[in-house]
Amino acid sequence: MTKKLGNLTLNQVHHGDCNHLIDFLPDESIDILVTSPPYWGQRTSEGTGTEDDPREYLDFLVDTFTRFLPKLKKEGVMWINIGDAYNTPVNWSREDHVYSSLGADKSGLNPENSAYTKNRAKRKAFIDKEIPWLTYGNLLALTYRLVTGLSDKGYLFRGEVLWKKKNAMPEGRCRRPHRQHEPIYLFAKHERHQFRTSPPVKSVWEFGNEKIDGKKHYSRFPLELPIRCIEAFGRTGEDVVVFDPFSGSGTTGLAALKLGCSYIGFEIDHEQVDASNERIQNAISELPLSLS
Ligand SMILES: C[S@@+](CC[C@H](N)C(=O)[O-])C[C@H]1O[C@@H](n2cnc3c(N)ncnc32)[C@H](O)[C@@H]1O
Repeated sequence: MTKKLGNLTLNQVHHGDCNHLIDFLPDESIDILVTSPPYWGQRTSEGTGTEDDPREYLDFLVDTFTRFLPKLKKEGVMWINIGDAYNTPVNWSREDHVYSSLGADKSGLNPENSAYTKNRAKRKAFIDKEIPWLTYGNLLALTYRLVTGLSDKGYLFRGEVLWKKKNAMPEGRCRRPHRQHEPIYLFAKHERHQFRTSPPVKSVWEFGNEKIDGKKHYSRFPLELPIRCIEAFGRTGEDVVVFDPFSGSGTTGLAALKLGCSYIGFEIDHEQVDASNERIQNAISELPLSLS
């Protein structure tokens, strides 16, 4: 039988802008929100992340995540994996692979490798002479601005996990630390939220990126990431509803199903919606009968 959450079918990714689709979710219906919104100015995809002004990007995220707050159950939690950005141009072209120092002999990978061919944005630095933090070269601290923005809107900020990347992207010769990690922030609605206490959840998680079958998604996080976020809740089962409003290739959905939970996803790119629903259906057909 098809399971529903309000009018939305469960264990499915729904197509559209999460800022609109959220109206269809019943209040207090989500146990665990796990997501990774697009990073600012990195890709050319639909939806958020392509704004010229990083303040518009932040406003969208703060506004949208604030609209998710009433949808969390009292004991619910929210995990956000997000990367920061330097206020410098991103001017990547396919021909730039000739400068690459990747590969065994450090002279580059195959020119068709996705490291070179993925759809990178071309953005300029966003300078506003009146606003000191919008200076050329500044690490914009978008991640911290999001955290303080959400705390100001009523989320309880509960912790930060550092995802230590086994295969971080090289950053070339630059006068700044090469980033080997990304943060994953934990928020809750109430201090008495559900969480695993034993074994304790540690604050550094180490794993690499991984490839997937079918349609590629260039900003996918590894399955291990949502698995750890869900396991940290300390309770699984069909009544535990996991939600990813920026569902991408559906990784959070696969993790939720693998752990016996229910899933609901929103995604603006219809090709990703189709590809992820196919993955989710395949995962459901592989589940033991009692869970499918
Ligand atoms: C960083 S990716 C998420 C990847 C995902 N965690 C995975 O493992 O595949 C962000 C996704 O958000 C989608 N997106 C951007 N703006 C959106 C919006 N307003 N509503 C819904 N989805 C959106 C993009 O199309 C992209 O697939």
